[in-house]
Amino acid sequence: MRDIKIFACNTAEKFTEEVCSYLNLKMGEKDSYKFKNDNNFVQFKESVRNQDVYLIQTTEVPVNERIMELLITIDAAKRAAAKRITVILPYFIYARTDKKDQPRVAITSKLIAKLIETAGADRVITCDLHNSAIQAFFEIGCDRLTGSYLLVDYFKKKKLKDMVVVATDAGSSKKAYKYSKLLNCPMALIDKRRDNNDDKACATNIIGNVKDKSALIFDDEISTGGTLIEAINICKKHGAKEIYAGATHGIFAGDAIERLDKSCVKEIVVTNTVPLEEKRKIDKIKVISIAPLFAEAIRRVNEGKALGDLFLYEK
Ligand code: R5P
Repeated sequence: MRDIKIFACNTAEKFTEEVCSYLNLKMGEKDSYKFKNDNNFVQFKESVRNQDVYLIQTTEVPVNERIMELLITIDAAKRAAAKRITVILPYFIYARTDKKDQPRVAITSKLIAKLIETAGADRVITCDLHNSAIQAFFEIGCDRLTGSYLLVDYFKKKKLKDMVVVATDAGSSKKAYKYSKLLNCPMALIDKRRDNNDDKACATNIIGNVKDKSALIFDDEISTGGTLIEAINICKKHGAKEIYAGATHGIFAGDAIERLDKSCVKEIVVTNTVPLEEKRKIDKIKVISIAPLFAEAIRRVNEGKALGDLFLYEK
């Protein structure tokens, strides 16, 4: 790899270290702190002039703080004459507002894309966007990796008997179908409704058979856990033998972990796109690292190689 520098923003150090260790590179040094008036300060402690710069930012709460530091870091890299700035955003925040579906609301995912672009990024590499159309909100390049193959591999290794993939709602049925093909098992579909801005989803029925089976519920993200808990309950009610869940982004907002811990789900598998604090970890939650996938994407971008086969499941 040539002329490459990788830096961590805010709390992304652990993830960035993993990426750097995969690539056998030293993480770039930068300084970042807050003034007494709450303004952020960012300074690269080494030259980035004419370098291929990668800025990694994870977006756990407080998310507004994370996005502001990212923007300031991009600006600093641009003003320090970086040749190319690629933002690595394992979890794209504000993604759930991707259309004007009510009067007088913002389209925040588009706004975030515009902010990153305006700050000076040349490219963004992210993962499992809540809505894949968000990719088109960027005028700059946007590569969207997926954590789904890590989840598939994990469950394949478990060799569960009588699996059935359960889609949490009609919107996720295409993705569930893909999982069921990869895991070579049938699928079922939950009829879920969500009213307006209500964070709480309500599952009413299930189409398909989960009785005496190992039900696998996949989603792009687990936020409040509402969708998942409804799905767990309905699978249980319809006689599932054991219930597992998998998601790329484990956000676990509010008391999601406590509520999931009390539920009858056997195991929840997520990747580390959103860091989970040590003190919040519970036995039921298994975190698998997606950092090597991002590292491989960075290597290919730096070497001018195609990313194509990172989007395919070929074993
Ligand atoms: C729904 O559109 C998504 O696929 C997820 O089901 C949702 O974002 C999960 O949110 P929560 O955990 O808050 O129900």
